[in-house]
Amino acid sequence: MTTLSRMPVVREVRRRTFKSTANYWESRYASGGNSGAGSYGRQAEWKAEIVNDWVAELGVTSVIDLGCGDGNQLSLAKYPRYLGLDPSSTAVRGCIERFRGDETKSFLAYDPSTLADPAGWLRADLALSMEVIFHLIEDEIFVDYMTRLFDSAERYVVICNNATADDERAAHERHRDFTKWVGTERPQWTLDKRVDPPADVDLQSSFFLYRKG
Ligand SMILES: C[S@@+](CC[C@H](N)C(=O)[O-])C[C@H]1O[C@@H](n2cnc3c(N)ncnc32)[C@H](O)[C@@H]1O
Repeated sequence: MTTLSRMPVVREVRRRTFKSTANYWESRYASGGNSGAGSYGRQAEWKAEIVNDWVAELGVTSVIDLGCGDGNQLSLAKYPRYLGLDPSSTAVRGCIERFRGDETKSFLAYDPSTLADPAGWLRADLALSMEVIFHLIEDEIFVDYMTRLFDSAERYVVICNNATADDERAAHERHRDFTKWVGTERPQWTLDKRVDPPADVDLQSSFFLYRKG
């Protein structure tokens, strides 16, 4: 069997062992894993430069981060006031420990299926999503996440992700053109800027800055 002809089998085995997005990340963190290569080194530096510059330029007063991860990316952030949420309680416990004593940062582990916030308690000036969307495998989780992201932003939404067509690259990666969802479901939001990674940053994601109105 050639490597190419084995690929669908490998993909099928991966798919069978994959239970859910939430389960994948909790197991990964609980077994000592981290948020991934994109949250470390030069990639993390570039991501932090972009968001820190926008936060300063736009006079952003608070940031809500949906999918804060292990906190390594966050250690480079300069935000006036911050709330990080993640479905992995292991990742959130790690962030609480790491940023203990930092009075500008709050954290919350959440189960997306048991959180409804129509009264708008979980809101900030800017809602942030960094390298989360292409990890959302289930359609209903993707829709729930996008809805929550835009509903938790008062002025800006910043997304770090790719906007390629539908494509499943690994059991825990599913690429979607999320910009289409924004265009049809949140037409009142305008795409202000798109920034692609420079040549020395090995990242498949670009930055997208949306403004309300
Ligand atoms: C690749 S990590 C990125 C972490 C962080 N944003 C960063 O850039 O370092 C993806 C994160 O998304 C989280 N995640 C998975 N499903 C989610 C959901 N429905 N809502 C929010 N976060 C989710 C995972 O637990 C994981 O911590």
